Amino acid sequence: MKQSLVAALALLLQAGAFAADPTAPAGSVERGKELYLKNVCYSCHGTVGQGGDRGAGPKIAPDPFPYVAFEMQLRTPRGNMPRYPEAFVSRQDMADIYAYIASIQAGPKADSLPLPKR
Ligand code: HEC
Repeated sequence: MKQSLVAALALLLQAGAFAADPTAPAGSVERGKELYLKNVCYSCHGTVGQGGDRGAGPKIAPDPFPYVAFEMQLRTPRGNMPRYPEAFVSRQDMADIYAYIASIQAGPKADSLPLPKR
């Protein structure tokens, strides 16, 4: 019972059912992660979207902004980010990358962590 529930949740995640934006096209979290690395998004935004050192790129996860804004930023970046035209990042690639970013969970809150021992 418990196992099938976990399997069902995994399937939903895969289908992007828990995307931050319910209007976002369905994408594969797994493929999105590969594309996020392949397109070097991580070099500026960090491997889990935490943001880059020395202001290389802002924090983009958890809770990414809506898909339309995400699409606009990739196709016509407003500042210093490189542009990702369709020839490099297809519409499906973009949906997959968004699914990956949307799947990233927040880490534990600092005040919930045990104090380090001396
Ligand atoms: C060379 C560094 C660099 C790379 C590579 C890069 N970005 Fe960015 N990104 C930025 C910077 C800088 C901004 C701030 C806005 C701007 O300059 O356009 C930004 C902004 C964003 C934002 C908007 C965040 C906000 O709150 O303003 C998103 C979403 C985003 N990037 C996603 C991606 C994705 C997905 C990829 C890979 C396909 C990627 N970026 C690759 C540097 C980068």
